[in-house]
Amino acid sequence: MFIPYNLLELNLLKLLRMKIITIMLLFLRLFVYKLFYVKMFSSLRYRVSINNDYNVNLVRNMYNNFFNQYYRKSSGSRSSSSISSSSNSNNNHKIKVIVAGATGYIGRKVVEELVSRNIPCISLVRSLDNISMKTMNCLDGSKIMICNVLDHNEVHDIYDIYQPSITICCLASRSGVKKDSWSVDYGGGMNLLHAQRNISLSINEVGHYVLLSAFCCGKPLLQYQHAKLKLEEEIIQYSKQSFSSSSPASSSSSSSSSSQSLLTYSIVRPTAYFKSLDGQVESACKGNPLLYFGKGDCSANAIGDEDLAKYLVDCAIQPNVVNMTNHCRDIGGPDNPPISKLEQLQLIYNSLEIPIEKRRYISLPIQVIDSLIGLFSMIESISRRLNLKRFEEKCSDASEIARIVRYYATEPMVAINEGE
Ligand SMILES: NC(=O)c1ccc[n+]([C@@H]2O[C@H](COP(=O)([O-])OP(=O)(O)OC[C@H]3O[C@@H](n4cnc5c(N)ncnc54)[C@H](OP(=O)(O)O)[C@@H]3O)[C@@H](O)[C@H]2O)c1
Repeated sequence: MFIPYNLLELNLLKLLRMKIITIMLLFLRLFVYKLFYVKMFSSLRYRVSINNDYNVNLVRNMYNNFFNQYYRKSSGSRSSSSISSSSNSNNNHKIKVIVAGATGYIGRKVVEELVSRNIPCISLVRSLDNISMKTMNCLDGSKIMICNVLDHNEVHDIYDIYQPSITICCLASRSGVKKDSWSVDYGGGMNLLHAQRNISLSINEVGHYVLLSAFCCGKPLLQYQHAKLKLEEEIIQYSKQSFSSSSPASSSSSSSSSSQSLLTYSIVRPTAYFKSLDGQVESACKGNPLLYFGKGDCSANAIGDEDLAKYLVDCAIQPNVVNMTNHCRDIGGPDNPPISKLEQLQLIYNSLEIPIEKRRYISLPIQVIDSLIGLFSMIESISRRLNLKRFEEKCSDASEIARIVRYYATEPMVAINEGE
């Protein structure tokens, strides 16, 4: 009598183990793929986004409409609608802006916005080889300059030639792993900061530095967040330097009314972008199930790329008007209500008008990522003991990528109104 029950129990256990092993293998493949083919991965993403533009826009509109319904009811939310896009066109001829990371998701929108406001703009790109037509179209109207932002001298040469009054830094490492984060997010950002400060000194004009940072820097657990935070700190320190003393000033001299600051700053920390939905939209279109972690109850109020670009340009051109002179601010879409990961997926299906019976969701236990982090960390420490430097680095990168996945799956990205 007990035999069939035990058999059933055994089979269930087997099935469960197989499911966990399959999921772990799937993740392992994904990480190895991402780790070793980051470049290929990103170019693939671009192609996917282009082919899938129509569906992606459909979802974004739906998502925006959903938010706007609530936004109209709640006053004072820092949403797209509260963002001013006015520009003082009379003064535009005096302004010259350098945009770093101009080929990125937000950077190219920033360039488009500057061009649409007739503000002279120089787009820094690292190479022309991998730029898609879509990105090229966005950069149209700006001066495109090839510059390795990681090379201090190259950056200074560009600043010497163009003498910009404003820098907008939209740089971000493509992988998020330790080495890249510190060389791109921090190192690249520092080169621009130093060059902007030097040029301000030589042309005797106060410079302004706008940093596109991230909301999640408020709870830093990842390498790229620490790199960004360090850059934020340096920017604040640089803003304390004055024309009278070009060396790092003490806080007492910075507060002195007689010495004018060399550099002002605006640090913008957005919550999340809609591009994180692109992959899910692609899956939904293909009829594949949509994945989420745990209960899918982690919330976010993502901000649209165009809205964020408008805000960044406002911070650059008229920081006083948007109260962003020497200020750091979180910014997101309407925050009432925040929307959970599971609701995002439902919205994707709604907007694609996929019938309920064809909708499929798979919840992945968060422990899967924890196991991967543990596994990679263990191999990393073994490799360290065996002095296998390259392997140690690969494992450290793999566990960092797993930590990034975990962070986004579990940490809410909801910017609430100041004062709330
Ligand atoms: N993703 C989100 O949901 C989210 C949410 C909040 C905040 N943020 C923050 O927003 C910022 C911008 O994000 P994004 O999505 O616009 O970034 P992105 O699309 O990945 O763009 C990154 C930019 O940096 C450039 N770059 C990367 N590595 C470089 C290198 N070694 N040398 C020179 N240039 C390099 C890229 O140039 P190439 O085109 O040549 O690679 C690209 O122009 C990041 O700081 C990110 O942390 C993101």
